[in-house]
Amino acid sequence: THGPLKDRRDRAVQDLRISVTDRCNFRCIYCMPRSVFGADYPFLPRKELLSFEEITRVARRFAARGVRKIRITGGEPLLRKHVENLIEMLAQIPDIELTLTTNGVLLPKMARTLKDAGLDRVTVSLDAIDDPTFRLMNDADFPVAAVLEGIAAAKDAGLGPIKVNMVVKRGVNDQGVIEMARHFRGSGHILRFIEFMDVGSSNGWKLDSVVPSREIIQRIDQVFPLEQVDPNYTGEVAERWRYRDGAGEIGVISSVTQAFCSTCSRIRLSTEGKLYTCLFAQTGHDLRDMLRAGVSDAEIDQTIAGVWHNREDRYSEIRTANTAGLRKIEMSYIGG
Ligand code: GTP
Ligand code: 5AD
Ligand code: SF4
Ligand code: SF4
Repeated sequence: THGPLKDRRDRAVQDLRISVTDRCNFRCIYCMPRSVFGADYPFLPRKELLSFEEITRVARRFAARGVRKIRITGGEPLLRKHVENLIEMLAQIPDIELTLTTNGVLLPKMARTLKDAGLDRVTVSLDAIDDPTFRLMNDADFPVAAVLEGIAAAKDAGLGPIKVNMVVKRGVNDQGVIEMARHFRGSGHILRFIEFMDVGSSNGWKLDSVVPSREIIQRIDQVFPLEQVDPNYTGEVAERWRYRDGAGEIGVISSVTQAFCSTCSRIRLSTEGKLYTCLFAQTGHDLRDMLRAGVSDAEIDQTIAGVWHNREDRYSEIRTANTAGLRKIEMSYIGG
């Protein structure tokens, strides 16, 4: 029998994020800029992807070593063919919270199926509540209404409480922060503001495009007074705030101005079967060859334990203007 799996900074592994496709129907300017992700971008060919059986096997090994939350990501995870079959397989692992992060536009079609397959909750990305700004952000001409319909479908299917993620980029969508807050107040959905991060190496990140979470909270507090709420659990990524008038809760995710590496319990599995111990990693550890060579569970366990034991990542604590230029994996590849 095994004790909890700890890394070099004494952090346990608790949270597995699985990317199921590197493709997306959006081209968000901060994630998949068209200049890089154009018509000839070399997305992964089908044979490179882990099968649902392979993914589930890896997830079970992590569950045996303490993982209690699994999040399915992309790219856009709902573009992966029959992703509901994967959800059904993962939902059979005992004592796991199973969630998914999506841009929302396929939810009207899929929410019910996802719920029936055993998905617990969804998080939906939405960067503006006014159409021109949203189209500017997603750069694929999707209207706000398509995402709002997705959120409504998820709620009706019982996939709530729904978290709504807004990445804030100064001078592009930050003028809409109050409008977003106003829209989601009292809805039962939890709006979270994310500091624009230097993920990957194609989004042209600059520190002066980041709106610090402190500033977001101050701006909203002036219009809708706020008070801070205790975290749900240690290591929670979002800092929680609530409206003093009882209209619900919001969150801020401050990877740039208040790094949360010291409690980071997350590991990521890429679409093609590589393990990454940090969102800002430059290299991963391949599991696919092993899986396809017919190894035993014990051998997988040993590899997983080795990767986690060696982990010492704390990128957000050591970020500088120079590290931002490193060749890191892309958000659309690893899924946030
Ligand atoms: P829940 O609170 O359980 O819903 O999980 P969560 O907050 O991890 O969910 P979500 O996937 O919505 O994460 C929100 C966003 O925070 C991600 O999309 C990333 O942008 C960012 N984020 C999550 N984990 C990390 C991390 O380990 N490091 C950094 N720097 N950012 C992260
Ligand atoms: N900085 C911050 N958040 C990002 N996301 C994607 N790219 C970035 C970035 N560079 C967000 C998405 C989604 C989640 C998976 O991560 O908008 O909400
Ligand atoms: Fe697609 Fe999400 Fe990246 Fe936007 S942020 S391009 S929706 S993966
Ligand atoms: Fe975890 Fe890396 Fe994010 Fe720090 S930067 S919180 S170590 S994923």
